[in-house]
Amino acid sequence: MISRKPIDIPCTLQERKVLEQIAMAARELGVPCYLIGGFVRDKLLNRNTKDMDVVCVGDGIALAHKVASIIGENVPVNFFKTYGTAQIKWNELEIEFVGARKESYRDHSRNPEVEAGTLQDDQLRRDFTINAMAVSLKEDDYGSLLDPFNGLADLDQKLIRTPLEPSQTFSDDPLRMMRAIRFASQLQFTIHPDAFTAIQENAHRIKIVSQERITDEFNKIMLSTKPSVGLDLLYRGGLMKIIFPQMIDLVGVEMVEGKGHKDNFYHTLQVVDNISRHTKDLWLRWAALLHDIGKPATKRFEPAHGWTFHGHDAVGGKMVPRIFARLKLPQHEKMRLVKKLVELHLRPISLTKESITDSAIRRLLFDAGDDIDALMMLCEADITSKNRAKVKRYLENFELVRQRLKEVEESDRIRNWQPPVTGEVIMETFGLQPCKQVGDLKNAIREAILDGEIPNTYEAAYAFMLEKAGAMDLHPVK
Ligand code: CTP
Repeated sequence: MISRKPIDIPCTLQERKVLEQIAMAARELGVPCYLIGGFVRDKLLNRNTKDMDVVCVGDGIALAHKVASIIGENVPVNFFKTYGTAQIKWNELEIEFVGARKESYRDHSRNPEVEAGTLQDDQLRRDFTINAMAVSLKEDDYGSLLDPFNGLADLDQKLIRTPLEPSQTFSDDPLRMMRAIRFASQLQFTIHPDAFTAIQENAHRIKIVSQERITDEFNKIMLSTKPSVGLDLLYRGGLMKIIFPQMIDLVGVEMVEGKGHKDNFYHTLQVVDNISRHTKDLWLRWAALLHDIGKPATKRFEPAHGWTFHGHDAVGGKMVPRIFARLKLPQHEKMRLVKKLVELHLRPISLTKESITDSAIRRLLFDAGDDIDALMMLCEADITSKNRAKVKRYLENFELVRQRLKEVEESDRIRNWQPPVTGEVIMETFGLQPCKQVGDLKNAIREAILDGEIPNTYEAAYAFMLEKAGAMDLHPVK
């Protein structure tokens, strides 16, 4: 059923102007043309979007060129002959043009056989009813919503549903399973039960999708307001165990002698949600996701203490580079930040348990450097107890740690600090080339300052260096 109600999708003046220019180009070429997909969906949801998808019953590349000539200003057209698609970037807008198509898929690939089709063929090949709605840019019904699968009702009911039988939609293009979960998490929608069952049945097909695309969707889930929604759906849909098996090792509660530990998977999801209330930074959210990833490998039951996870911070930190490499996440700066936060995530907590010495605080400032605030944010997110009194106590303890961090930083300036006696000074004083002895002396000076044995001054560090060097049988050259 095609509804032909005129619809007023909320567009800016500039968007309206571009849509009219596209309509004019299509009319001059004599091709029926429609706005479709994410732009229509997002505008109806009042979400910000700058990506327009335009489908025409004809040649999408020719239409893009015509539109560019109408806009003028030498707007370049990027086009891909093999796929019959073209793109124009104009001001903030990215407009994609494609000819309406009919698709048939083969088992081993998510790249379909494509032939020209009608608008209805094109809508039928799309992933979800809410993404298959089109707005006509034709003269006779300009602005009408063409909604053959009741996408508008699904938008109202916050429902993710497929136009075709769901197993076919997901088996044809298994990336759509990730997309369904991503939209559910991002838009806070529900996946229709039949579609969710189809995801469970077709999860294994995700293997034919490239890692980059999987990770792209995973990161969009991580960036949603409440990532636990998508992460839990990935688990229950059977995708998590294929794309990220280390997360599955966190699932479950083991009991010995009537004692259980907490379910580290659901604890982790809560930590990710907690941190997401304070930051939109993807990498801090990743640090929350991975903070306990070393727990399964370090889990022991010790009759005297119950369940322990000794060293899970260090083990977890070591796992980060491999996980990042497998998921094709960045290998440098961002990975190092996540690794560092995972490694350090117990340190502030340990400082709430003992009477805090200045040297312990100095060490934490030195090790965390500029990431100290991110680390404290992670530690606070890690508090997931249901006991309000406990949560209050933990937060108060962290407040104390923050206060001490501030005081020590103000007096010692240890954040991003370098010891006052450098490697160059050591080499010059003793006539050394770069060697292990230089490193040993440098470390000894740093440790002595961090431990508060000597003040953080050049004179004190120099005197300490001479004394240490004497014990190593090193003597100044002049
Ligand atoms: N689409 C699809 N199957 C896919 C990817 C896309 O059917 N695997 C269709 C949907 O109709 C979608 C449109 O192509 O709305 C545009 O895709 P894309 O720009 O990737 O996604 P959007 O839906 O626009 O959403 P977002 O920009 O948030 O990714």
